[in-house]
Amino acid sequence: MTHVTVIGAGTMGNGIAHVFAMHGHQVVLVDVNEGALGRGMATITKNLDRMVRKEKISEQDKASTLERLTHTTDLADGVRKAELVVEAATERIDLKKKIFTDLDKYAPDTAILATNTSSISITQIAAVTNRPEQVIGMHFMNPVPVMKLVEVIRGYATSDAVTRQIMEKSKALGKVPVEVNDYPGFISNRILMPMINEAIISLHEGVAGVEEIDTVMKLGMAHPMGPLQLADFIGLDVCLSIMHVLHEGFGNPKYAPCPILVNMVTAGRLGVKSGEGFYQYTAGSKESVVAPSFSAR
Ligand code: CAA
Repeated sequence: MTHVTVIGAGTMGNGIAHVFAMHGHQVVLVDVNEGALGRGMATITKNLDRMVRKEKISEQDKASTLERLTHTTDLADGVRKAELVVEAATERIDLKKKIFTDLDKYAPDTAILATNTSSISITQIAAVTNRPEQVIGMHFMNPVPVMKLVEVIRGYATSDAVTRQIMEKSKALGKVPVEVNDYPGFISNRILMPMINEAIISLHEGVAGVEEIDTVMKLGMAHPMGPLQLADFIGLDVCLSIMHVLHEGFGNPKYAPCPILVNMVTAGRLGVKSGEGFYQYTAGSKESVVAPSFSAR
């Protein structure tokens, strides 16, 4: 059994805590916000209930998973016993640097410090610590309990031993790890985000409407969601920030974010989490309709 601390109780953080606790690890969930911790724990309980209903786990599995989970707003206390920390806080480099400075200070010297970042350089994050060889990317996909992939990203200084441990740990969680190197967007978002951006550019140029673009990719390419629906699901702010990382990191104009994406984020249309993106969402409903600003196209 390993003591694992997850930093950040949002969508990714609570999913990561759920999966580690379900696989027998003692997990501490840390967030600066007490309300976020409450919402994160409620989501974990709801997702465990769903797994019980689908007969993937028993009531007893659910109870023991919840028993292995504690939470706190005190980071120093939360990482005191950690053998592995997985950071899943908001995607801001300044925030990640502050968190990793604190993790380096308070986590045991032997602890591995992983980040779930979707595009920020692992090497930059590791550089604020005194243990860059123990810093690594552990990039889970949303929804974490369902998606099989963990993209394991080696920073410039990450050791072979730490990479091996994280690959093994991911397999023990029932996931399929893939090792990649630290370049902008890694592999997942270097390929996914330009596809999403191209879908938005196609909409911008009037090549087709929202539903038509998504239908082509769903039925033609067997994607479970079309690129515009997936962008809403990921969060348009996250998509935009990843496009910025690619654009700045490679200096290639092909990565310039589409102006509609920039405008939507500026206007607070962030997708599912704000209730509207390319589609409109009603709280508690799985149904979505094309947002009014795009329905006339
Ligand atoms: N916890 C546990 N189980 C869950 C769950 C959750 N949060 N969400 C869904 N499930 C389970 C359901 O119980 C269901 O299980 P069964 O197949 O056994 O019945 C299964 O997942 C499918 O769920 P639904 O039937 O409710 O819905 P669906 O068929 O529409 O699938 C989906 C939902 C799995 C999200 C699917 O639409 C999908 O695969 N979408 C694409 C997801 C994707 O691309 N994710 C990556 C995003 S990119 C990212 O995360 C990284 C980044 O850096 C941006």
